[in-house]
Amino acid sequence: MKCCRLVLAAMAGMLIVAGLVGAYSNGTSFEAVTGAPGESTCADCHNNLNTGSGSATITAPAGYQPGDTMDITVSVQHSGQSIWGFELTVLDATASPVGEILVTDAVRTQHATAVSGREYIKHTLDGSDASKANNTDWSFQWVAPPTDVGLVTFYMAAVAGDEAAGPNGDYTYTDTHSMLATAVVDVTGSSLPGKLALSQNYPNPFNPATTVEFDLPVRSRVALTVFNVLGQQVKVLHEGILPAGSYRTRWDGTDARGSQVVSGVYFYRLQTEESCAVRKMVLLK
Ligand code: HEC
Repeated sequence: MKCCRLVLAAMAGMLIVAGLVGAYSNGTSFEAVTGAPGESTCADCHNNLNTGSGSATITAPAGYQPGDTMDITVSVQHSGQSIWGFELTVLDATASPVGEILVTDAVRTQHATAVSGREYIKHTLDGSDASKANNTDWSFQWVAPPTDVGLVTFYMAAVAGDEAAGPNGDYTYTDTHSMLATAVVDVTGSSLPGKLALSQNYPNPFNPATTVEFDLPVRSRVALTVFNVLGQQVKVLHEGILPAGSYRTRWDGTDARGSQVVSGVYFYRLQTEESCAVRKMVLLK
């Protein structure tokens, strides 16, 4: 592997010396250089890996809810630079691809679903924002996997370039962002709730997703489950022990397999060792 990289770097060096534009910068090929396990970075061909005064930053929620579509932004900054690029991939703890990247700005970003078995997003040449001074950023979305798959990590490598051909004056930066599934988010305020409560979901009726909140007066084993009108279990939103507190979760209108369910009335039930609460909600497409 190391050997291949050296050859690649040497070839790229020749391209740069010859003043040719490498395949990478024509905006169509993906080189798998995000710094993820088994990958090198843009510093194969560009200079100054994580040694400049700039930075690359991935901004994403602290946790994912299975099946959720989340907004992600990547930013690159380096004072005085004027042309920018990035590439990003998302992997689980075993370095396997996880979730799905959605391109929301096809002028500035592009997407490849399978390069060395992984999924990537990167800047297009347009998106590299020539002449944009000091910084730039790109936004896209990521769809979390339909089930809790444990730790998920975003890996990004980015270049802050100087518009001159060749690696001199270019800076390469990397960043990672890790998150765990947070099917249930702790929203406990300044005081602990006095009694068990299951709030009416909002919005209701809803399409495609709705929020459910509940209060736990004592630490309990909790199951929060969605049922259809026939009483059949549709999806478990949370199962496990939670400390006393106030919690929020979301149902995205999918069943346990991640498929969209049909319009209609559904019930959500909060069950603890001590008690139980049920409410009705309406999915209206
Ligand atoms: C295989 C070699 C290679 C790799 C790897 C590579 N590039 Fe490049 N890149 C080039 C070449 C060659 C050019 C054109 C010459 C130049 O401008 O330096 C270029 C130019 C660019 C430019 C325009 C810069 C300028 O100063 O004109 C950007 C932006 C860029 N690359 C971003 C990236 C990013 C981001 C990565 C990593 C995700 C990356 N490149 C990885 C070879 C590479």
